[in-house]
Amino acid sequence: MLQMSGSAVSAETVVPAAVPGRPVEPDPERNLALGALAGLLLGVAFALARQALDQRVRGTADVEAISDRPVLSTIPMRKADDAHSIYLELDPFGPQAEAVRQLRTNMMFVDVTTGKHSFVISSTLPGEGKTTTAVNLALAMSDAGTKVLLIDADLRHPSVGTTLGLEGGVGLTTVLLGDADVHDVVQPWGGNNLHVLTAGEVPPNPSELLGSSKMHELFERLSEQYDFILVDTPPVLPVTDAMVIEKLTGGMLMVVASGETRKRHVSEAMRVLETTGTHVAGFVLTKAPAQPSAYYSYYGGEHASTRPDGPRKRKRRQGKRDKRMSKSRPHAEAAASARAERAVDGGEALEFRSRARQRLDRRNGSG
Ligand SMILES: Nc1ncnc2c1ncn2[C@@H]1O[C@H](COP(=O)(O)OP(=O)(O)O)[C@@H](O)[C@H]1O
Ligand SMILES: [Mg+2]
Repeated sequence: MLQMSGSAVSAETVVPAAVPGRPVEPDPERNLALGALAGLLLGVAFALARQALDQRVRGTADVEAISDRPVLSTIPMRKADDAHSIYLELDPFGPQAEAVRQLRTNMMFVDVTTGKHSFVISSTLPGEGKTTTAVNLALAMSDAGTKVLLIDADLRHPSVGTTLGLEGGVGLTTVLLGDADVHDVVQPWGGNNLHVLTAGEVPPNPSELLGSSKMHELFERLSEQYDFILVDTPPVLPVTDAMVIEKLTGGMLMVVASGETRKRHVSEAMRVLETTGTHVAGFVLTKAPAQPSAYYSYYGGEHASTRPDGPRKRKRRQGKRDKRMSKSRPHAEAAASARAERAVDGGEALEFRSRARQRLDRRNGSG
């Protein structure tokens, strides 16, 4: 058609075609940026989903979201290779022992409001740390000069006896059956103010026994003879034993294992406790991950989170203390004594330190 119209076709180079200096595809810089962005978004989405789907209690905030009862102490996780769990013996100035002493102090404040000088210790399900907490708290209280009785009322899976290395064949159930007097069955522990009433033989009807008038009378009698009574009990979701015996005491201390206990179970337990009119004095969060400031908390005593002042001030104070101690005494001894002074309230420090040392000496001597 062009030929027929008679016009000629001409072509002209406007810009010469150049060979590109680098490949058009793939573009590593762009791909890298896109990849990083996608990764970041995925990570955030994963973290959010994980948080939303996480069923377990991870910290005090989770407990506080469920109940208005206070968290009285957070006991850090102890390394799994430890054979026994009496922190106050194993490591009297370690973070677990410090947390137990904080619990003791806070329990004293709660006790003022109940005036009963007795508490039961329970949890939602087995294996959360009830017995461990009960034993250590009883020991911490007796260290402070209080005459303490620890009763193993977990008549289904008693373990106070084995934890403390005591004879467990005779105990609470023996007394309730009338086969022995309580004073022949109660065992002293550690040569100080702590006495222990182990569970005795496992009965077929624990709830009935614990709710009996005999148990009531026994508890009244013991309350007159001891400054403070702690009762280890079975968990509250499967059985009612803990609620039954709580009625004799000033309230219940609920142990929650961080990273183990499900939030749903804590909520359920709180509903059950409310229905049965059980007074929950507070919570203990145990097996908690070590604090980021673990060094400070180990060294300085109380929980970093409980201190009113900021980290900078804490560091300054820590530095000053280090200087003071390195000048005056050998470091290890100075550190131990500083920890003891901070661990216990004021004047108790010296007494506490000598008791802890005596106990360690005795254990080393006998072992
Ligand atoms: N703070 C802790 N760190 C590490 N392990 C712990 C801690 N507290 C308790 N445990 C461990 O958890 C397990 C269950 O503890 P236990 O006190 O017997 O629970 P419960 O009496 O509630 O059944 C034990 O092996 C105990 O050593
Ligand atoms: Mg137990």
